Amino acid sequence: MPAIVIIGAQWGDEGKGKATDLLGSAVDYVVRYQGGNNAGHTVVINTPTGKEKYALHLLPSGILSPNVVPVIGNGVVIDLAVMFKELDGLIERGIDVSKLKVSANAHVIAPYHVLQDKVVERFLGKRQIGTTGRGIGPTYADKVSRIGIRIQDLYDESILSQKVEAALATKNELFVKIYNRRAVEANQVTETLLSFADRLKPYVTDTSLLLNNALTENKTILLEGGQGTLLDVDHGTYPFVTSSNPVAGGAATGSGIGPNKISTVIGIIKAYTTRVGAGPFPTELFDQNGKELRDVGGEFGTTTGRERRCGWYDAPVARYAVRVNGITDFFLTKLDVLSGFDQIPACVGYEIDGKVHSELPMTQTEFHHAKPVYETLPGWKSDITGARSFSDLPKTAQDYVKFLEEQSGAPISAIGVGQARDATIVLRDLSK
Ligand code: GDP
Ligand code: IMO
Ligand code: MG
Repeated sequence: MPAIVIIGAQWGDEGKGKATDLLGSAVDYVVRYQGGNNAGHTVVINTPTGKEKYALHLLPSGILSPNVVPVIGNGVVIDLAVMFKELDGLIERGIDVSKLKVSANAHVIAPYHVLQDKVVERFLGKRQIGTTGRGIGPTYADKVSRIGIRIQDLYDESILSQKVEAALATKNELFVKIYNRRAVEANQVTETLLSFADRLKPYVTDTSLLLNNALTENKTILLEGGQGTLLDVDHGTYPFVTSSNPVAGGAATGSGIGPNKISTVIGIIKAYTTRVGAGPFPTELFDQNGKELRDVGGEFGTTTGRERRCGWYDAPVARYAVRVNGITDFFLTKLDVLSGFDQIPACVGYEIDGKVHSELPMTQTEFHHAKPVYETLPGWKSDITGARSFSDLPKTAQDYVKFLEEQSGAPISAIGVGQARDATIVLRDLSK
């Protein structure tokens, strides 16, 4: 004990990678429990020789901490080519990756899933989700349809080829007859997957057993979510969501530990809001302020390079995230990005069809109609990147943080004031 969960409280890209990396030195295991290489987690570390920047997609951000055992849990979907490319990139930079564990039950993203993701999006035209095109949705769909391929299938060649053939039997009909594509050769897919088997073998583990044994030995486990609460397939802005459960509840299913082992749920939340891809976003800005947030915050996707849509802080979203995740602490990130603004509005409710709502409305149609109700606070107009304690912040920045805390329903226990690992104000030791 204990298990700590880090989740995104908005639409992803809140700075989960930085928060996970920051806690890396204080925990024994870091586990990814859902999603795949749709995630993009940027970690920046100040070293004596300058800034070291890492962009991680599939591997847990804890892999950068030498004493951490990084684990890819059963709930993750794995593109093996991407995983090995990422591992090779880290090995080249001198990172020890030998402790990595990969669940035997995790599902594999096959080349036909990537193809399917792309052709379906194209087919949807104006109604597309704006996925990352990494094959995430089709792989989870196959998992639930019970025609998926798991890591363990790579070690039984006959089962693997039967499963690939079964999956392609209907998919090839769709590729050829509906999407006007060539059929995918089952043998080729099987061979591609088998080509990874030997190199993968030392990493393959019963990760649920491993993690439960670790908890018995009083080790600390950090479960790192990908994406965010509003991208959750159950609790997000469906259908403009990802195909897994980033919420804290997903951490138990996606790693094979009991929910009663989780003692802390850290909601990572930006001091403003961003989203990538299509879907409702009440506080979105289309003016110069939105552009300034994007430029100053470097709001371009780590995975796809797309511009992130930007807007003001949305407290009803924060309160909703507290509710569906059981957030015990917020880690407020990117406060420094707001330093250039004279005035900073924060959304405290919505006006929907003439009525004021303090909570997210029940239906998606209402959410599409939601107009933010703002309270505007004075800015601080000074550089805060050197602040390391709350009292180092200008009074107006302190007031902004206190206002967000009052509005959001959980204590703010850490504040990010810059990109690097150490540019953080820690108000409570989150590893306990
Ligand atoms: P994730 O997907 O939640 O891990 O977030 P991303 O890595 O996709 O996006 C967050 C970006 O903000 C990254 O480039 C981080 O290095 C950066 N970042 C995180 N925290 C802070 C902060 O407090 N201030 C600033 N300026 N940048 C931050
Ligand atoms: P991290 O972990 C932001 C978005 C996509 C799209 C929707 C579905 O870096 O916070 P998918 O490829 O998952 O089927 O796409 O979800 N999306 C993300 N947005 N950050 C992410 O991850 C995301 N992962 C997926 O843009 O709108
Ligand atoms: Mg990201």
